[in-house]
Order: sequence, then C-alpha cells, then structure tokens
Amino acid sequence: MLKGKSVLEPMDLTMEEMQDLFETADDIIANPEKYAHAADGKIMGTLFYEPSTRTRLSFASAMLRLGGQVMGFSDASSSSVSKGESIADTIRTVGCFADVIVMRHPKEGAPRVAAEHSFVPVINAGDGGHQHPSQTFTDLMTIREYKGRLDNLTIGLCGDLMFGRTVHSLIKALTRFKNIKLKLISPEELVVPEYIRNSIMKKSGIDFEEVRHMEDVLPELDVLYMTRVQKERFFNEEDYVRLRDSFILDEAKMKLAKDDMIVMHPLPRVNEIAVEVDDDPRAHYFDQVRLGMYVRMALITKVLGLEA
Ligand code: NCD
Repeated sequence: MLKGKSVLEPMDLTMEEMQDLFETADDIIANPEKYAHAADGKIMGTLFYEPSTRTRLSFASAMLRLGGQVMGFSDASSSSVSKGESIADTIRTVGCFADVIVMRHPKEGAPRVAAEHSFVPVINAGDGGHQHPSQTFTDLMTIREYKGRLDNLTIGLCGDLMFGRTVHSLIKALTRFKNIKLKLISPEELVVPEYIRNSIMKKSGIDFEEVRHMEDVLPELDVLYMTRVQKERFFNEEDYVRLRDSFILDEAKMKLAKDDMIVMHPLPRVNEIAVEVDDDPRAHYFDQVRLGMYVRMALITKVLGLEA
C-alpha cells in the first residue's frame, strides 16, 4: 500500500505497485471522467527550490485534473527559505496546509530529510544529480506504451550520465526488469558515477557497456534516451561549453537506427536533438510529457489513497 508513503526514489514502489501505477494511469487515460473528483478537497504543496517547467506543471495539472487544489512556490527566494528557514521547519509548516508535498531541491537527499520531518507524504521531484522517481515512472510508462514491454530491450542512455538524475533513477529501476542491455553513451568526463556503476549496475548483474560514440551502438537500440548536459551542476563554464555539444542526434544519425527504435528525452532539450528529428515518427519525447501527467495522476491517487 502506497497510501501515506513518501516516494523518494523509484524503488520505494514494489514491482507490483509500479505495475499497478501503470495500470491505473491506463485507466485514467481511458476514463478520465471517473477520476475527475477523486481528489476533491485535497491540497498539494509544490516546493520547488530549483527551476522546473514540466515537472511542476505536470504535477499541478495532474492534481487539478483529479479535482484537487495546488499551492506552493517555484522560486525559493520568494519563500521564508530566503530568511534562513530549515527544510525541516518549512516542511512541518507546509504539512499543516497540504495533504501531499512535491519537492525539488538542488541538494541530494533534501527530500529525504523533508520526509523524515513531514506529517504528510513527500514526493521527490528531483534532488540534485541524484534521483527523480516520477520522471522514471514516466519513462517506463512511455517505453511500455511504445515498445509494448519492459523486458528484453537494448536501451541507449546518451549525454550527461554523470550529473543526469533522470538517468540515475532510470538505471536503478531498469535493474528490476529481465534481459535489459544498457549502452551508456557519454564523453569520458561525463560517465556514470562510481556508485551507479558498482553499487547498482555491477551489483544487480545488469548487462551494460560504456561507449564513446553513438554511431557504434545506434543500430542495436530499441530505445534511445537522450539527455541534456546539466549546466547547473558544472563547476566551470569552460568545461560545460566544451562538453555540451558532444552528442547531437540528427536525421543522418537516425538513418542508422532501427525503424522501430524510439527516441526519448526527459526535456528540456538544448542542442542534443536537432529539431528536424521532431517530425520523425520514432520521436516520442512530447508523448513522454503527456504520459507523465497521467502517471503523476496515478501516483497522487495512490499516495493519497483516493478512490476513483
Ligand atoms: C529533468 C530534470 O529536471 O532532471 N527534467 C525533467 O524533470 N523533465 C532533466 C533535465 O533538467 O535535464
């Protein structure tokens, strides 16, 4: 039972709970009217200490479509945080007003600290370079929708594998599925962190290969997951500028890929996918945004224990 629980990383849901989440999202897509009042009288607090467009608005839209209300801040400088308030105190306060809290924070582990002090469930909407569970559920839902399965897949993860929390979160969740082959495509400087390589990938026994050139693995891929180089996590502008255009997916590269490969991206994109790829039927990053809202609707119903 997810009711009343915080969701800080994808493994906070059991395999069964994840499956149930996707099935609930399917049901919401098929019967939105059934859920239109599921969250009547409930309030979501959105505490965003870091910029966001999709995640914050997706959660807000999800709550509104369930009949609930949303309040919060999208810029910590307009909150008491700017006066020096601790996360623990902010969360205890917001817990008096809201039934569920969605939090994004630049510090890794901040949502966990929040959850420890919270009276209501906390959903991690991204903490530093660490985890981003609702994006992972979105990603899995998209793969399930457009590939029809979550097992037996060769998945390329490309770009900033060092700082990209969506990648870290997705890798963790993918260790649960059968016969997944990961192709990790990044420049030397942006390879996955040691703990992901050793404590997650090697420990789980998932098949993975680290490569430097997208072209070497493109023809094998069922899914290509592109990511943005995470400018805000770099220590200097020079390194960012040198690395940001390491991989650019364009129509010429798409010719090397299978006819039924799908292209995903958590967005926002900068340069890493040329806009010409948007018209390719294999491009699914905007479908991913749409599915993300339904997955979040499902997640809210589970965490709040709502009946349709
Ligand atoms: C991602 C994030 O914030 O981690 N965006 C998102 O939530 N959809 C990816 C990114 O910012 O590059």
